[in-house]
Amino acid sequence: MLAEWMIRPSGPLRGRHAVPGDKSISHRVIIIGAMARGTTRARHLLLSEDCRRTIKAFRALGVRVALSGDTVTIASQGIEAWQAPAGPIDCGNSGTTMRLLSGVFAGCPWRVMLTGDASLSRRPMRRVAVPLRLMGARVAGRVRRGEVYPPLRIHGGAIHPLRYAMPVASAQVKSAVLFAGAQADGVTAVREPQPTRDHTEGLLRFCGAAIRRRGAWVRLIGPVRVRPRRLVVPGDLSSAAFLIVAGLIVPGSHLVLQDVGVNPTRTGLLTVLRRMGARLRLCARAAHGWEPRADVEVSASALRGVAVGGALIPNLIDELPILMVAACAASGRTVLRGVGELRVKETDRIESMVAGLSRMGAAIRATRTRASGDVVTIDGGVPLHGAIVDSRGDHRTAMSLAIAGLLARGATRVRDVACVDTSFPGFAATLRACGALIKA
Ligand code: S3P
Repeated sequence: MLAEWMIRPSGPLRGRHAVPGDKSISHRVIIIGAMARGTTRARHLLLSEDCRRTIKAFRALGVRVALSGDTVTIASQGIEAWQAPAGPIDCGNSGTTMRLLSGVFAGCPWRVMLTGDASLSRRPMRRVAVPLRLMGARVAGRVRRGEVYPPLRIHGGAIHPLRYAMPVASAQVKSAVLFAGAQADGVTAVREPQPTRDHTEGLLRFCGAAIRRRGAWVRLIGPVRVRPRRLVVPGDLSSAAFLIVAGLIVPGSHLVLQDVGVNPTRTGLLTVLRRMGARLRLCARAAHGWEPRADVEVSASALRGVAVGGALIPNLIDELPILMVAACAASGRTVLRGVGELRVKETDRIESMVAGLSRMGAAIRATRTRASGDVVTIDGGVPLHGAIVDSRGDHRTAMSLAIAGLLARGATRVRDVACVDTSFPGFAATLRACGALIKA
């Protein structure tokens, strides 16, 4: 039987809580640590299913990756010492693993096959195949109606730098090109249509790379000699997001989420929640030369609807499902425009969230317009009721619907929740520690 949660309307949520390490940063720490010559050590690494896939991939290349609690030690002799893997590399459910490793392997002189689970096998890979082919790598996948799907076969080697204007705002594509460019001789430049998370740039720079942003372009001088470093991964704002919204919408709540990454390319949710009237503060700010971090303090607030679109969307792409839940609790209408990328996540998150929240009585609908692309409209303030809802195998849908359940009258059952280990192992226990009624 698939694992499920039972959630009941809960009293005030309280306390100081830690959230697991940032998923995007953890993947990059493993990759960049394996590229470095020497020993990289990082604390508070996220040891979720997705990040374990990236660790396993490098072990298959002969890189020594040791785990002790949430500390990882990566001992590598640099890229030249990597060995061709004996078999396919299984990226599981992790799009980040597949797309970032495509770029890394584009520079390696051997053939590799990247596979994934049923969900990942449906996700578009043309966006990475196109630039990597332009750099000289051979990248082949399953082709259907012009799109490229996993499994991906990559035959890398002597690649050259590229100047590339990305058609989609995607940090994964940008990172793939930069990781390939880090192994090419000369300047690789990537242009983003809208700014996306810049963890690859930040960590590469911290590890010695000459990499700079000028306007919409990021420029990297290759080949990069990556230096090993000591790192502490900040808490994942995308995981804290569920607790932040819970603290805002459950009456009487007051929560502090400790040591959360607040890189400005990731804090779009906080910007929008403030516009909605959230009582939200960043305290104990710290920025030690690398990723900025802070404690996020929230108190239950009367939220009002907002219109969100444009350049803010990539900045809160993973938080859109939980923002839909906040919008249900707000007064008035919320309109989310240009959210089409949600259709190609671990599941179609527009469909999964509209289906789940509608079953709970929310006034939510999805439309498509020529000017704004995919649009989700929510009329807030409609009381939610408990229902049986389905994650569709998507971790962020599961956690968002669980938070909606805290507000609903009666019990909510969220089905198929094992997927939550993708990004937030221990989510139910953390929510329970805040005071929520959630039973696994
Ligand atoms: C990620 C980038 C985003 C995000 C994903 C993680 C990353 O994907 O949705 O969860 O770590 O670079 P896209 O690059 O597809 O927007």
